[in-house]
Amino acid sequence: MKKKYAIACDHGGYDLKEDLKEKFRSIEWLDLGCDSRDSVDYPDYAAKMIKAIEGGMVERGILICGTGIGLSIAANRSLKVRAALCTNVTMARLTRQHNDANVLTLGARITGAEAAFDIVETFMNTEFEGGRHIARVEKLGKE
Ligand code: RB5
Repeated sequence: MKKKYAIACDHGGYDLKEDLKEKFRSIEWLDLGCDSRDSVDYPDYAAKMIKAIEGGMVERGILICGTGIGLSIAANRSLKVRAALCTNVTMARLTRQHNDANVLTLGARITGAEAAFDIVETFMNTEFEGGRHIARVEKLGKE
């Protein structure tokens, strides 16, 4: 079965979003926009990702803005989202193993496309370790 990921960006992440869809063709992408380089507001796209995760349309997602920071801040307002801004593969591996991150955030003005491809591949292929991390992750989802 194809892995399904939601993907969303603002104008700063539009090109990398298109590159990722092209690079990872075996993924079933739920593209939540934006759809061009025209200026948009990143909180609107974090809200779309939150809706997709909270609504059960997807279990995982990728968000891309210029730095990755604005979308991380906005997406993590949901208790169902654990969005991790990663700038290297070690962060991508550890956030899956320890935080069970369900959303990867990338900064397209910080991380080049080739590095982003490696980060995405690592994020997609690393499992949560469980064990001592379970109770910690559960605490993140509480009011
Ligand atoms: C847009 O110019 C930029 O502010 C946005 O992509 C992001 O970096 C915000 O955190």
